[in-house]
Amino acid sequence: MAIKLLQDDLINKIAAGEVVERPASIVKELVENAIDAGATKINVNIVRGGIDSVEVEDNGSGIAPDELMLAFQRHATSKIGREEDLNNIATMGFRGEALPSIASVSKIQIMTAQTDKPGIQAVLEGGVLINSAPCSCPPGTRIMINDVFYNTPARREFLKTPVTEGNNVHEIMNRLALSRPDISFKFSNQNKTFFKTPGKGDLMDTVTSIYGRDFSQNLIPVAYDSDRFSISGLISPPEITRTNRKNQLFFVNTRAIRSPMLYKTVDQAYRGLLISQEFPLAFLFINMPPAEIDANVHPQKTEVRFRDEKVIFRLVVEVIRDTLGQLNYKYNLPTQLADSEPYTPDYDNGRFEFSTVAPRESGMAYQNMTKPDNTENRYDFTSLPASDTPLNYRVMGQCFNSYIMIEKENELVLIDQHAAHERINYDKLRSAADKGNMSQALAFPVSVQLSVKSMQVLENNLQTLTSLGFTIDIIGPREIAIRTAPWAARGNERETILEILELLQEDKLLDVTDEAYKLLACKKSIKAGQVLSRLEMETIIADLLKLPDYRNCPHGRPVILSISRQEMDHHFKRI
Ligand SMILES: Nc1ncnc2c1ncn2[C@@H]1O[C@H](COP(=O)(O)OP(=O)(O)O)[C@@H](O)[C@H]1O
Ligand SMILES: [Mg+2]
Repeated sequence: MAIKLLQDDLINKIAAGEVVERPASIVKELVENAIDAGATKINVNIVRGGIDSVEVEDNGSGIAPDELMLAFQRHATSKIGREEDLNNIATMGFRGEALPSIASVSKIQIMTAQTDKPGIQAVLEGGVLINSAPCSCPPGTRIMINDVFYNTPARREFLKTPVTEGNNVHEIMNRLALSRPDISFKFSNQNKTFFKTPGKGDLMDTVTSIYGRDFSQNLIPVAYDSDRFSISGLISPPEITRTNRKNQLFFVNTRAIRSPMLYKTVDQAYRGLLISQEFPLAFLFINMPPAEIDANVHPQKTEVRFRDEKVIFRLVVEVIRDTLGQLNYKYNLPTQLADSEPYTPDYDNGRFEFSTVAPRESGMAYQNMTKPDNTENRYDFTSLPASDTPLNYRVMGQCFNSYIMIEKENELVLIDQHAAHERINYDKLRSAADKGNMSQALAFPVSVQLSVKSMQVLENNLQTLTSLGFTIDIIGPREIAIRTAPWAARGNERETILEILELLQEDKLLDVTDEAYKLLACKKSIKAGQVLSRLEMETIIADLLKLPDYRNCPHGRPVILSISRQEMDHHFKRI
């Protein structure tokens, strides 16, 4: 074929591949336009996960009638004009790609008006103007996208089910609403309202309206300010964690971004307070002069490049550590590790001291915190080793407060105390489930306020929850009462149910019940860094070695490291 320039409509369809992957990306682009237009109220409604329609309504600046068609042209933007502007981007959009890309693969109805000026409405199909006419509408813009990918069947086939697409939109909406607590966002799916944020500028209120009161009430504010950088947000205390990073969100100059570096700051800041594979909650806002970052590295603008990554890394870690340090969390870190790090933690007696959480003077929200009872789990002695059976091993002690050392026949064996306990608890849960006695009645029902989303998930999964041992009464549109719970959730029912409901929202899990057992087993287990009595160690070992799969924890990680007598003798050149 001869070389020729592509037609505009084809270029737009190609570009749509980058900007418009799925309904969630359309929602993101349209809401960002509304934010850039200075809106203080943004309403979003989707139908069938956004596949049938996405509607975004804002009270922003509106578009002048004679500029409307320009907005649908490629590289048409009101946000940058000169090359220098690229180094100083303060708006969410700037590439002038979204509207033409979305228009090229869908049917659009738009109505827009500037304050005290006549409005205009237009209908486009596949990027082609079908009709437009003056209209009277309130100041702002209402845009409705229908039948996404109707003219690109191959792309349409790549869409997932309406539920999955809807979940993706939901996640994007959470992030957008969190990114701007000063804007009131309302999000509805199939005309059911999932949240409406107050838009008064308070992050905690915004988090509460999206995730529910029992989610937000334990979060701790962080804040730091200098003339170059400011960091603010909410983090969870180390005893409130999740098994994934879904609740670790970062906003750089109000833009939600993905950044492995920022994930690492959280890992680093909580190091010594957590066992591995636990992820604390963190909603962190980092602000800096636009010239400090390059936002133009990704078509969807979900990544940024920092001019001074190291400084930001260190600052975020320090801000989190200072906050936790003031709450008297003590780090349990090996000395070498701490020495090689830029930040030196405050050592005390080298073990966790969750039990000494002192509320801070300043009367922050943390004072209301309901501390889970099992922050320091103990071993329940259900099966003391019978004293008359001769043991073929000897428990020697605990190493780094994390590993139990035993001498067994011709081996020195190190056992990860957390992993071992997790295996024991998991097997116990499974056998309780087999016998059908998972649930224990609570002396007093525990009431929990949920997000609308979690409430929906709960209603759709009551049977699974029952099989896990929960008996739950729905006592309000967002409120439940837990009457029975599995023994492994004892004392920690509220957090456990929030976490299980989050787990149930994930659609790629193969066996939800099994994942829930793992979660329960992990939560109930002794942690690394916890000092154990000899009796505890002996019982753990006795219980562990009885199990068929004692070599691995339920997540598949090893429980045991053994060094044979022979290896040792070899090493010391005895043989
Ligand atoms: N909701 C809106 N309110 C006011 N103006 C809008 C809105 N949406 C789009 N526009 C205008 O249309 C232009 C093109 O939008 P878009 O294609 O998303 O590109 P970009 O946001 O990168 O400028 C914007 O620069 C803006 O002037
Ligand atoms: Mg835009």
